[in-house]
Amino acid sequence: MQELFGKLDMKKLLAKTRVLIHPTVLAAAATLALAVSLGTQAQQSQMAQPAPAEKTAGEQFKNIQVLKDIPASQLLPGMRYITTALGVECNFCHVDGNFPSDDKRPKQTARQMMTMLFAINKDNFDGRPEVSCFTCHQGRQAPMGVPALPVEAVEPQFSPLAQGAPTLDAVLAKFAQAKGGADALNKITTREFQIDETRDGHTSSVTAYQKAPGEMYSVITTPQGTSTTFTDGAHAWVTTSRGSFEASGFDSIVLSREAQMNPIAALNGYTSKRLRGQAKIGDAMTWAVQATAPDGVAEFLFFDQQSGLLVRRMIRDRTIFGALPVEVDYSDFRETDGVDIPYKITWYTNGQTAVFVVKDVKDNVPVDDSKFVPPAPQSH
Ligand code: HEC
Ligand code: HEC
Repeated sequence: MQELFGKLDMKKLLAKTRVLIHPTVLAAAATLALAVSLGTQAQQSQMAQPAPAEKTAGEQFKNIQVLKDIPASQLLPGMRYITTALGVECNFCHVDGNFPSDDKRPKQTARQMMTMLFAINKDNFDGRPEVSCFTCHQGRQAPMGVPALPVEAVEPQFSPLAQGAPTLDAVLAKFAQAKGGADALNKITTREFQIDETRDGHTSSVTAYQKAPGEMYSVITTPQGTSTTFTDGAHAWVTTSRGSFEASGFDSIVLSREAQMNPIAALNGYTSKRLRGQAKIGDAMTWAVQATAPDGVAEFLFFDQQSGLLVRRMIRDRTIFGALPVEVDYSDFRETDGVDIPYKITWYTNGQTAVFVVKDVKDNVPVDDSKFVPPAPQSH
């Protein structure tokens, strides 16, 4: 963008002749004006031929890099627009009393965003201002990069870490302690669950068997019949009366996460763990940790600041068009054989909600190994 302006040297051109302003410049000016003036044609055509006397923003203001060539009178309306589009105040980007200063990072980001926006419109819409700051931001500082989850699963807003926040290691250590400690977890090698699963108002009974480190087999009885699910910790298969198939995407990811018998050991395998901020979930403040699971999928893990327990897992599955979220909420924690486990688990996936309520847990019961075998591949 700057390069384009540089090559054009607007000032010289304007001085010499009443040339048509380059379409990119028009797009820039028009986009900025659009929201403020609710698209008054008059204003836009005025901008196409600014009164020769009017200064450019670059001439009138001290530190203009991207918007150099727009008419100076368009700068403040543009500023009011971006303030609204992001739902912020001027001082989100500007140091109080010093508009030219570049000390605030969002101001620098905003310059990049302007350049990006003009390029999008130039490359895809013949320079017409079809895409605006609002298209993405919708009144938020950070746009929603992912489709909205059902209303119950509200995307948390991170707030930055205040001074005195614990380290990542301290958050994970507190979690380990809250779960009952590594020793207690290591003692449990198998588990049998009785669960009520509710989807779309229908409740089914599930019996699930887990085996350390990460295998799980479950039998679901519904009015339509019985189906089984098995995960070896990496892949998952579903078998119904119509045959067996390998689960993909979220189903496979979520099942393999839920099958982990020892969550501390599982988290140790995650890479690039980072304490991202804090977020309010329900009434609880949580520490938000961003991490990458061994299968390469990015997750946010939310640890209750009081209890230390993991209360939400948010997984982002990368598709070619963007990230799709899946969320798992854990609540109603009860100590069972020295280990704190959630008795209520809620999945929000693909616009669906499934609630699992644990009715009974038996640890270290013998479980027939033949259950932990992937179904034979079938042809249909
Ligand atoms: C999202 C960030 C952002 C917000 C919010 C914002 N500005 Fe700006 N402002 C910028 C950027 C970026 C520039 C520099 C543009 C450039 O380099 O082309 C700028 C430049 C300016 C300048 C020119 C300063 C100079 O002399 O160089 C003024 C004046 C200004 N803004 C006023 C405001 C006012 C008033 C508000 C609130 C109504 C506001 N801005 C809100 C990002 C922002
Ligand atoms: C194509 C979508 C898109 C458009 C158009 C867009 N933005 Fe953004 N903007 C983003 C995304 C995505 C982020 C968050 C990046 C991140 O989190 O690292 C962002 C972040 C920002 C930030 C940093 C916010 C923060 O919390 O620090 C500012 C400031 C910003 N945009 C300003 C603007 C302005 C001003 C415009 C219009 C000139 C604009 N954006 C247009 C997608 C867009």
